[in-house]
Amino acid sequence: MPFSDALRRLERSRTADVGYWIAQPFWGKGIATQALAQLTQHIFKETDIIRLQALVFDGNIASCRVLEKCGYIQEAFLKCAVFKEDQPISTYLYSCLNIP
Ligand SMILES: CC(C)(COP(=O)(O)OP(=O)(O)OC[C@H]1O[C@@H](n2cnc3c(N)ncnc32)[C@H](O)[C@@H]1OP(=O)(O)O)[C@@H](O)C(=O)NCCC(=O)NCCS
Repeated sequence: MPFSDALRRLERSRTADVGYWIAQPFWGKGIATQALAQLTQHIFKETDIIRLQALVFDGNIASCRVLEKCGYIQEAFLKCAVFKEDQPISTYLYSCLNIP
């Protein structure tokens, strides 16, 4: 497939990545879960996005819990998908779909 075709497909996707970060003194208070739940609801109500997705570093159990509590489904485990401090790190891919 020509590269331009791949680019077009990207342009035509209705996918967005989500990410979040909470300052450490406020961890464990349900803030990330509440924020992501509201963000997810807002995006699906106000935009034409049908797929929200998130990548989570292997071992980040709190972030996996946040996504699962907000209705995101674990789709894949991507081995050595990213590099951090010169080390390969695997990631989980989560998604939440807004389809009939
Ligand atoms: C991940 C992060 C966003 C979570 O934010 P938070 O406001 O503390 O999350 P919440 O309080 O809404 O929920 C955390 C959940 O994880 C669970 N949890 C937290 N630490 C855990 C651990 N070490 N093992 C298992 N579960 C854990 C909590 O018990 C809670 O689940 P529960 O309600 O079922 O008990 C926050 O820790 C953070 O900002 N981390 C640094 C940045 C980051 O990792 N961002 C995500 C990148 S994908």
